[in-house]
Amino acid sequence: MNETLIILDFGSQYTQLIARRVREQKVYCKILPYHTPLEKILEENPKGIIFSGSPANVYHAKAPFPDLKIFKAGLPILGICYGLQLIAHVFKGKVHRSEKREYGFAEVTIDRAEDFFTGLPKKLVCWMSHGDKLDRIPAGFHVLGHTENAPVAAIADPKRRIYGVQFHPEVVHTAQGSEILGNFLFRVCAFKGDWTPASFIGESIAKIRRQAGGAKVVLGLSGGVDSSVAALLLHRALGKNLTCIFVDNGLLRLGEAEQVRNTFLDHFKMNLRFADARRFFLRELKGVTDPEKKRKIIGRVFIEVFEKEAKKIGPVDFLAQGTLYPDVIESVSVHGGPTSTIKSHHNVGGLPSRMKFKLIEPLRELFKDEVREVGSVLGLSEDLIQRHPFPGPGLAIRVLGEITEERLDVLRRADWIFIDEIKRAGLYRKIWQAFAVLLPVRSVGVMGDERTYENVAVVRAVTSQDGMTADWARLPEDLLARVSNRIINEVRGINRVCYDISSKPPATIEWE
Ligand code: XMP
Repeated sequence: MNETLIILDFGSQYTQLIARRVREQKVYCKILPYHTPLEKILEENPKGIIFSGSPANVYHAKAPFPDLKIFKAGLPILGICYGLQLIAHVFKGKVHRSEKREYGFAEVTIDRAEDFFTGLPKKLVCWMSHGDKLDRIPAGFHVLGHTENAPVAAIADPKRRIYGVQFHPEVVHTAQGSEILGNFLFRVCAFKGDWTPASFIGESIAKIRRQAGGAKVVLGLSGGVDSSVAALLLHRALGKNLTCIFVDNGLLRLGEAEQVRNTFLDHFKMNLRFADARRFFLRELKGVTDPEKKRKIIGRVFIEVFEKEAKKIGPVDFLAQGTLYPDVIESVSVHGGPTSTIKSHHNVGGLPSRMKFKLIEPLRELFKDEVREVGSVLGLSEDLIQRHPFPGPGLAIRVLGEITEERLDVLRRADWIFIDEIKRAGLYRKIWQAFAVLLPVRSVGVMGDERTYENVAVVRAVTSQDGMTADWARLPEDLLARVSNRIINEVRGINRVCYDISSKPPATIEWE
């Protein structure tokens, strides 16, 4: 079993970042809501605990508190921001609202280079974001560092192994953040730091075999990173007992279906059922222009095709899905009471509950960057691993208005040129998503002596962290010029190319 660190989430916007920073140090960690009972925490056999920050204030009646037995469990604890104030409050120190808020960069002076400050320079650039401060530390603790505004920026009680920092070591603006967290993990908690993609793969294969060894498993393979990596992992564990179903809906990008066939069938020799449903999708979408209707139809037809293919396999025990960790972390709300809701996401390809499979989700402990690393170790090509996100309804929501074979073909070729040029310029990995859109209008142009009346393509490239907000990418002018030239010259049917310069919000990434 992995050595585990538990992060108790008090509702900070940075909680997932703490988890990622911990895992970067090859330590496995799990996020649990702050109110998780100690017994439940101990089931994870943790070697240490981190308390996240919070938008709440410790002195409020409804302040979020952990199960107080945790302070007697003998486990090392590090409180970050609110976490520090919580520790101070519980141990009868004094926390109060500060006159001056500290937000942004602050210089922390180290008073004692011990514990998590071991080996660090005297002055640290740290990221602060708090209004409350601690001005009397509890008995048994001492101060490890201060800032100009906060006489107490870090505290320690090495005897009980309870610690706190007022700043945020998990954000990149805290230059020595990784060292500070590393010191806590390795010096205080004594983690070994042996959690790697390779160790994950080994353990995961053993776990899949325990759960589904000898059983029949079916997986919907889309060609995206998550389902591809899930497929490879399951294939390693179960071999021919895994059947992947790939539905070619005719709404994919140029060469994509062939790439899936080559990779999984020819190269990895997996059991792959290739359902060519292009005509079926196109027939059902005929005459439909409303984007939400398009999505509904595509969702319904996908299920029909998938069910039909799955039936051909015979009895199946498990349905595998490429669900990731951010989809299963319970989000906590500290203002509206301690509610827990599981996030839902709007992927087309969700299967109805009447399909009575047991679920197997081999990636549900991983963040996206970890999935990519695992894929790389499993031998998936860089091209597939680094691929931009692609919406379930595919090009159907990028051909605005009515979808026809011909319009899909025009869009596909324009899209390919745009991506090709971005890759040649070495910019593909700096961009969150890049694609072309075909507008439902025509524009006038001239070619030679003739007047043309043809399609308008929009190219869109955005930068983003998670797709929730996005900015349009400042692509070099000469790159845009090449893209426009090539599309107009090489794609018959397009005589005008526009570049989308809207950010999200208020626009969205997709046009429909
Ligand atoms: P928007 O356009 O809402 O997109 O800014 C945010 C992210 O979601 C993707 N997207 C979808 N993905 N089914 C999906 O699986 C959909 O219907 C859908 N609509 C948008 C979009 O590509 C971007 O990554």
